[in-house]
Amino acid sequence: MIDTMKQIAHSWILDLKMYEPGKPIEEVARELGFESVDDIIKLASNENALGPSPLALRAMKHVASQMHRYPDSSAHLLRRALSKKLGVKPDQLLIANGGNEIIEFIGHVFLGPDVDMVIADRAFAIYRLIGDMFRSRVISVPMQHFTHDLDAMLAAITPRTRVVFIANPNNPTGTMVNNKALDLFLRQVPEHVVVALDEAYVELLPEDQQPDALKYVREGRKIIVLRTFSKTYGLAGLRIAYAVAPEEGIQLMHRVRQAFNFNSMALAAAEAALADDAFVRKTRHMIQAGQKLFTEYLPRMEIAYIPSVTNFMLVEVGQAREKFHALQKEKVIVRPMDGYGLPDHVRITIGTREENERCLKALARVLNKPEPQF
Ligand SMILES: Cc1ncc(COP(=O)(O)O)c(C=O)c1O
Repeated sequence: MIDTMKQIAHSWILDLKMYEPGKPIEEVARELGFESVDDIIKLASNENALGPSPLALRAMKHVASQMHRYPDSSAHLLRRALSKKLGVKPDQLLIANGGNEIIEFIGHVFLGPDVDMVIADRAFAIYRLIGDMFRSRVISVPMQHFTHDLDAMLAAITPRTRVVFIANPNNPTGTMVNNKALDLFLRQVPEHVVVALDEAYVELLPEDQQPDALKYVREGRKIIVLRTFSKTYGLAGLRIAYAVAPEEGIQLMHRVRQAFNFNSMALAAAEAALADDAFVRKTRHMIQAGQKLFTEYLPRMEIAYIPSVTNFMLVEVGQAREKFHALQKEKVIVRPMDGYGLPDHVRITIGTREENERCLKALARVLNKPEPQF
């Protein structure tokens, strides 16, 4: 007898794990019985603590009255703006409903039961989930010093490998591969492999430290660069991102894209945000200042961390799930890292000065350390 939907579903669906997102502030308040959400700080999802780009906010208000219309499925204006800014052709750009959707497109186009994909063991969690979803074999290569080991990843490529994912900088480790290593890797990668280079955090780096990955697209390599408006531009809730790839790769992904995968408010906001240089500068400044504060105070408190180039860092608190709950009671939401095989680490997103100080104080209380004085 068939009396459950589970019996009708593909059996392998039942084995898929679900992604554990950062906890929303409202949920924590409900669970712990806090009356207000106002003084809870969320440092759990690598969002921009400054809020959305002000130019994006203004653009959203402006287009709100047009929400009875379907979006421009070609994203003409946004692609034109990106094309100008990045020095690639509009046809080398694809707009998506967040970077995660692009990762899924890559799955649709290249992965499947007879296919291997290569990732690093502590790379962004979605790669494995998508690999599993498309029933590919996921070859997971240990990182070295919390950094992608590109030599080992190259050696792990099999004749069945179609995709290698590299997050640069990587979440949750906050580390980068250097340009030379990436260049060497791309030069040696076999012709039957597409490299997916995830640059979700790249604009947060000081300009002179940003790798020029788009040159590989211009050279026509089999590469898909992924970027998002969620982090630097403060638009995570809108869900908008883009891929840069040779036109052929973009066309393949168009085949698996729904016509209206992104919405018109997100299009307008992203286009405006792209021109908001002042906001990007302010964001970078906040992160640099936050990095400085954490890297000054954590050692004083004798708390170990992994040096990070971006807006979050792995902090070793010991029995992190427990500390995560204790920090929530202090109204600070961070992210436990047991899912990444790091049961002693939490990932802390860098916030405003006030948030960072509150986080450090809460950490001190939870870990029985003397409270820092700022
Ligand atoms: C490395 C990395 N790639 C991609 C994403 C996806 O971002 P979004 O789907 O919000 O664009 C994230 C988000 O946390 C990330 O950390």
